[in-house]
Amino acid sequence: MQNQAVQSNVKPETKTPLDALSKLLEHDMQQVNTLITENMQSNVPLIPKLAEYLISAGGKRIRPLLTLATAQMCDSPMDKVYPLAAAVEFIHTATLLHDDVVDESHERRGKKAANLVFGNQASVLVGDFLFSKSFQMMVQSESLDVLNILSEASATIAQGEVLQLITTNDIETSMDNYLEVIKSKTAALFSAACEVAPLLAGQDADTVRAYHNYGLNLGIAFQMIDDALDYAADQKQLGKEIGDDFKEGKMTAPVIYALEHANDEERTFWQRTLSYKKQESGDLEHALQLITKHNTLEQTIDSAKHYAQAAEQSLHQLPASEIKSLLSDLTDFIITRNF
Ligand code: IPE
Ligand code: IPE
Ligand code: MG
Ligand code: MG
Repeated sequence: MQNQAVQSNVKPETKTPLDALSKLLEHDMQQVNTLITENMQSNVPLIPKLAEYLISAGGKRIRPLLTLATAQMCDSPMDKVYPLAAAVEFIHTATLLHDDVVDESHERRGKKAANLVFGNQASVLVGDFLFSKSFQMMVQSESLDVLNILSEASATIAQGEVLQLITTNDIETSMDNYLEVIKSKTAALFSAACEVAPLLAGQDADTVRAYHNYGLNLGIAFQMIDDALDYAADQKQLGKEIGDDFKEGKMTAPVIYALEHANDEERTFWQRTLSYKKQESGDLEHALQLITKHNTLEQTIDSAKHYAQAAEQSLHQLPASEIKSLLSDLTDFIITRNF
């Protein structure tokens, strides 16, 4: 099923702000990619094999790009920023490996998920390796403030995933509970990615806060759109399986809103499929019908837009530059994206 509201109006030939940022920061990103390759090496061959499997599949690299972009805006010392950007992508990669085990996902970045190819145990352990490596790279910044931000973000992500586990299959989950989950599991890394380079450059507390707020709000919007895409994207473009969240009974914005509007019969349906995970063929289609009936993808997108606007506003106090306007455009792009 395709949902026009979530389908991008960015035409394939149109250069997205993400492409423009990648192009502008190409040289910096090359340095980061070299560090990524170097740091996934190990004399235990399964480690680079599994890491390479996921990392070479690409991914948007949005988080390290945010670190590099904010670094350029603040004139941060790039030799210290590169390992931080690589560390941020390693934290993300590690959480993806763990997340796909927990979510029993089948597809990631257009390929069979690593847990299916290499098994759950290898995925968890290589995730731990990448996670530990990220700390080795962070230390190179020689900044306790930076270490504090990234280590706190790592703990917050894990906390968010555990919190999500608790709310899964609980149809009483509120939008506030959901927001707490996504702020932790996703937005915490976005905010840290945006904050570390300004900190390294010695920017004042108010400015660092502006970068932090940009990342935090962008991350919240990003996850809300991810949750809408899970019901409505084109699977090939997304590179992940559609309907994963429904299958797992995850309480995300599209279903929380649908539950708010549900009549008795609809509530019974959500209870059976999400709380008791008793799903039959045709249930995902029915879930989509209810989501369409109550316009809850649009509602999810509207909420995401609210956070994207807050992200955009956080940029206002920062000096004008080409990169700043691309970061501003990125707040629109993450709403209209379809991958
Ligand atoms: C996926 O993140 C996990 C979420 C927080 C939704 P991305 O959509 O950034 O994944 P890649 O790195 O581009 O594959
Ligand atoms: C992302 O949530 C969680 C983290 C990566 C911490 P999802 O479970 O929605 O991410 P996808 O959809 O599997 O990428
Ligand atoms: Mg997942
Ligand atoms: Mg998802």
